[in-house]
Amino acid sequence: MENLRIAELLKSSDFGKEVQVKGWVRTKRGNKNVAFIAINDGSGIHSIQAVVDLSKIPEEALRQVTTGACISVRGTLTQSQGQGQTVELQTSALEIIGAADETFPLQKKAHTLEFLREIAHLRPRTNTFGAILRIRHHMAMAVHHFFNERGFFYLQTPVITGSDAEGAGEMFRVTTLDLKNLPYNEDRSIDYKQDFFGRETNLTVSGQLEGELAATALGQVYTFGPTFRAENSNTPRHLAEFWMIEPEMAFHDITDNMDVAEAFLKYLIRYGLEHSKDDLEFLNTRAIEEDKNKKESERSKTTLMERLNLVAENTFKRITYTEAIAVLEKGKKFEFRPEWGKDLQKEHENFLVDHFKIPVIVTDYPKGIKAFYMKQNEDGKTVRAMDVLFPYVGEIIGGSQREENYDKLQARMKEMDIPEESLSWYLDTRRYGTCPHSGFGLGFERLILFITGMSNVRDVIPFPRTPKNADF
Ligand code: 4AD
Ligand code: MG
Repeated sequence: MENLRIAELLKSSDFGKEVQVKGWVRTKRGNKNVAFIAINDGSGIHSIQAVVDLSKIPEEALRQVTTGACISVRGTLTQSQGQGQTVELQTSALEIIGAADETFPLQKKAHTLEFLREIAHLRPRTNTFGAILRIRHHMAMAVHHFFNERGFFYLQTPVITGSDAEGAGEMFRVTTLDLKNLPYNEDRSIDYKQDFFGRETNLTVSGQLEGELAATALGQVYTFGPTFRAENSNTPRHLAEFWMIEPEMAFHDITDNMDVAEAFLKYLIRYGLEHSKDDLEFLNTRAIEEDKNKKESERSKTTLMERLNLVAENTFKRITYTEAIAVLEKGKKFEFRPEWGKDLQKEHENFLVDHFKIPVIVTDYPKGIKAFYMKQNEDGKTVRAMDVLFPYVGEIIGGSQREENYDKLQARMKEMDIPEESLSWYLDTRRYGTCPHSGFGLGFERLILFITGMSNVRDVIPFPRTPKNADF
């Protein structure tokens, strides 16, 4: 017998056909004559209803059909009598594949997201996380489609590196040295020559520098991989392990870079609206329901669907950092006063996005708050950086045009105390056939946050890694 997935069956109109489904029980209800079992196999947000005639199948056979159990059901596909679904299964045989007793933590009642984080190993069985995981998949596919259609090559950059690309020192060390018995040099510093790689190594904070090497050979590349930051910030937007997409493009200046970033984000959202329609509608309704329990002032002004369409349809606002500070100064009273030379706070980013009512791309930041590799402007004060700010999420993309001039780059590294020997390979791109080039990094979880309308990055990655938390 054909084993069809439930998402396919629900679209079928092959009434009268004998089929078999395998999946997990969401609910069971009914009376002494008939039982209704909702089965979900993860193929989509909707479950199929198996109708069991208790005069044909004894109630005893359904004893182990409880929420969470894995079952197999055979039956005839029929047009549904009930409301809400069009297709159901008239059960002829039922088998328990794996029982789940009453200790199964996901019983019918709704659970808080905080509780679900504690059972991250089981939360994919909920409607919400099923939807999020399917959307994550489609978004990953969309990333590859977008770049492939535009002639970019997918580059795999190393997870273990010896460099700190962002220069922020937020690295996880990689070592095989015995921490209880470390080898020391005469000056009491640790002798990393005895370590596995014969040098200090860490988990990558960005694939960009290696991306630049490839972009100055293949023209247009992108990376998509895990990224690690040991920043001790317990916020709803930061993970210690997250996924980043980093395109890098030769012969692109900052404006070309912004154009690619904007087209990319719009493509991803349109792709989501097309390929994850049911899941997005579910999350949209979920958010509206959740809002009803909130105070008037805390409710969203827009629905998830409205926000997705807004971003997909409208041209982003582009302003310089200096202009942004001027807008903020005329804005409102902030907890942190906006000040030229300082990083924008979340409240500032939110204000800018609210003010312009669309995503905002801020460019030309003060060089003091940005990485060494960014192209220096003529004014001597700013660099050709660009951050894309999104409603609800804040910074979703960070990028820049790169400093392609060897002398300027070398001088900036010296100013920032970045040892030249450790990055001689990077400087070589500027020594041999240098060219103007640009790139950016999109935080995958921040994208998923925006698309799903969830409010914490811990809820859009299967197994979050955050300070004091590496369970599962
Ligand atoms: O702005 P960032 O630090 O830029 C870079 O790493 C550059 N090397 C990118 C490039 O030009 N190729 O990080 C880029 C994006 C941020 O805008 C944010 O979306 C995400 O990565 N991000 C994080 N996401 C989750 N948790 C964290 N701790 C993140 N840190 C950055
Ligand atoms: Mg950034």
